[in-house]
Parts: sequence; structure tokens; C-alpha cells
Amino acid sequence: MSKKTSYDDFNFATFQKMAQDKKLNQYEKIGFPTKYRQGKEEIIFADILQKLPLLKNGKKLNVLDIGPGCSDLPNYTVTLCKKNGNKLTWCDSSEMLANLPNEKFITKIPGPFPETFDAVKKQNPHGFDVIICYSVFHYIAFEHNIFTFLDKALLLLKDGGQMIIGDIPNFSKRQRFFASKNGIKFHQTFMKTKELPQVEYNTIKEKVIDESMLDAMINRARFSGFDAYLVPQNSELPMSNRRDDLIIQKP
Ligand SMILES: C[S@@+](CC[C@H](N)C(=O)[O-])C[C@H]1O[C@@H](n2cnc3c(N)ncnc32)[C@H](O)[C@@H]1O
Repeated sequence: MSKKTSYDDFNFATFQKMAQDKKLNQYEKIGFPTKYRQGKEEIIFADILQKLPLLKNGKKLNVLDIGPGCSDLPNYTVTLCKKNGNKLTWCDSSEMLANLPNEKFITKIPGPFPETFDAVKKQNPHGFDVIICYSVFHYIAFEHNIFTFLDKALLLLKDGGQMIIGDIPNFSKRQRFFASKNGIKFHQTFMKTKELPQVEYNTIKEKVIDESMLDAMINRARFSGFDAYLVPQNSELPMSNRRDDLIIQKP
């Protein structure tokens, strides 16, 4: 595994390198310690399907996955899309996409989103029923303008379409948790320490996503004519005490 341990050590370029590193397994290539993802991705996929009933039940859909990575999760999407006659578009680096299967119903668009918006739109002028962007927003947020990302993604969503911007590290939720009795107990057990977790208020934290950003995105989506909600993850997921999913639906 690479020595990098925190998500803010990664960006589009580091993922390009990791995607080609033969010493890394499929979880490490996408920046996760194996124990965080092995045996968990089925639960993640079930959680995504519960939040996107259109993807769970719909047939002949047009589906976009922004940043699919190359572990088990995109392969679950492939199996479902094949079964339901869906078309699937993947947008990630060519290095990452090279680790994913090629099928007639799959289109691979290399490059970072939202820079690839025009290419995605050209291939799919009528838009998408479902957009998945799972565990990617915290990389996009510090390399691109978050509202450009959001606006471009919303422009691709069809009427009645659903989008998940999932697995967002929510710093405000993390602070609340680690200031609580349960959070302190969790920290002390996990870190094998008697020390208290560090919780700082009223300080500028660079490269973190907090509810000022998430609430602004929810409002941006709502004022653009979409329903938007911040929702919790399945509590079986290892980072559910500090991560959230943003669900957006075009009426
Ligand atoms: C942590 S992995 C998540 C992969 C997958 N969605 C999952 O949850 O298993 C992040 C992925 O997003 C990709 N990525 C990062 N920035 C991106 C961007 N601006 N556009 C598209 N993909 C991006 C990376 O190359 C990597 O494959």
C-alpha cells in the first residue's frame, strides 16, 4: 500500500499513478486500505440502490458513473446494467478506466469531470437517468469549482433523474461525533489511547468539506429546480459516523 493515508493526499494525478501500480490491489489503487473496502462494497452498493430506486428497479436506463475507480463497486454496476439493459458511461482517467471491463453497452470517457462535460454531453445528448459519483467529491472539491461540478452534473440529469454524490467526508458531522461520548469512546478504542479526540471550533480548516459547503450545494441544487437532501450512510459502513450522501432528484 502507498504510504499516503489520508484522502487529502490524493488527487486525480495520484490516482492515475496508483491505477497503474501493479503492487497495489484493487482497493489500494483507489486509495483505500483493504480493510475499509474488502467485503464492504456489496453493502455500499445495496446502500446506493436503496437511495436510487430508479437504478434499483428501472430498465433501459442511461447511467453515468463519475470516478468509478476499479474495485468491486463498478463491477456490481456493470452486472446490474447488463441485466436491466442499461447503457453505462464511465468518466475517470484512462489509466483507471483501463482496469475496467469493456462491453458493448459501456462507454469510457477519459479525463477529469467537469472538464469532460462536453465530451460526455456529445455522447449522451439526451442526458442520464442516473448519475453516480461515489467517494469522489472530496477530490473534485479541491481541484475544481464545486458549483461548476454541480451545475454541469445537474445539466446532464434527465427529468425524473436521480443522482448520488456519495461518501462525502462531512467535517461538521465528524466534529459533532468526536465531541460526543460515543465519539470519544470510539476514538479511544480505535486508537488504543486514553487521550481525547481533537475537536477544534472557530478555526479555518483547509481542504475539508463542512456543512457550509454541503448546505450551499443543497441550496444551489434546490434553487436550480432540483430536490436535494443530505442523508446518512448504512451504519455498517466503516466511515458512516463521519460521512454522508447527497441525493439529488430532478422532479
Ligand atoms: C476513492 S476512488 C472512488 C472509486 C469508486 N467510485 C468507489 O467508490 O469505489 C476516486 C476515483 O475518482 C477518480 N477521480 C478523481 N477526480 C476525478 C474527476 N475530477 N473526474 C472523474 N474522476 C475522478 C479517481 O481517479 C478514482 O478512480
